[in-house]
Amino acid sequence: MAELSRQTWQARRYAATAAFVPAGGAAVLALLAPQQGERILDLGCGDGALTKEIAAAGASVVAVDAAPDMVAAARAGGLDARVMPGQSLAFEREFDAVFSNAALHWMRPPETVLQGVRRALKPGGRFVAEMGGHNNIAAIMVAVAAVLGRRGLNAPALSPWYFPSALAYRAKLEAAGFAVTEISLFGRPTVLDSGIDAWLDNFAEDFFAPLAAAERAAARTEIVDLLRPVLVDETGTWIADYVRLRFRAVAPK
Ligand code: BEZ
Repeated sequence: MAELSRQTWQARRYAATAAFVPAGGAAVLALLAPQQGERILDLGCGDGALTKEIAAAGASVVAVDAAPDMVAAARAGGLDARVMPGQSLAFEREFDAVFSNAALHWMRPPETVLQGVRRALKPGGRFVAEMGGHNNIAAIMVAVAAVLGRRGLNAPALSPWYFPSALAYRAKLEAAGFAVTEISLFGRPTVLDSGIDAWLDNFAEDFFAPLAAAERAAARTEIVDLLRPVLVDETGTWIADYVRLRFRAVAPK
């Protein structure tokens, strides 16, 4: 059973305030190394910013995302984009590669996603992805947990995210039949040009949804006040404590 987030994805807001997400995907795109004529699935494509780059390499790309507004934006950009959650991929031995940037941590349970990816790949096809990994946004998680805890709410139970260690995710990839050719976990401090409020708007709705409307602004202020001394540098820039899990795995022949 898919565990779905309550996040409302707004493509216009995302394009204006979250361009750092596709920009951060350059290295995993290089690891994908898309080739002319390949058929590639972009899983969790968002507004298609990276899908376009894969297509520009000469690949034929199908892009899927669970969020209709993001898919509409991708389609408006001329892409073959479809509304399809990662937990119910409807492809059979079709793709040379499956690619994903900053999206898999929204898709639970991971086992269901991995089975769908494996089914979607041709024998010997590759799965190349980057996602939030163990300890990702730890400061944000602790601040949210403290503030929601004061209101009797359990933030970890409300979290829509899955941030695995390399050890844990390697085991899941192997259990799904993949051979892992590389996997690494590394910190990547991420500049939030639009600040933490835009980040919370874009991504953290699951934590605020259970609060009465009148409580939301106060909780938000408390979270931001806790985070400011930790995440704002001396120039006044918000820098989030991102940790990435990047991997390449190959389906059996
Ligand atoms: C991430 O890319 O690590 C991320 C983005 C939004 C929410 C949580 C994590």
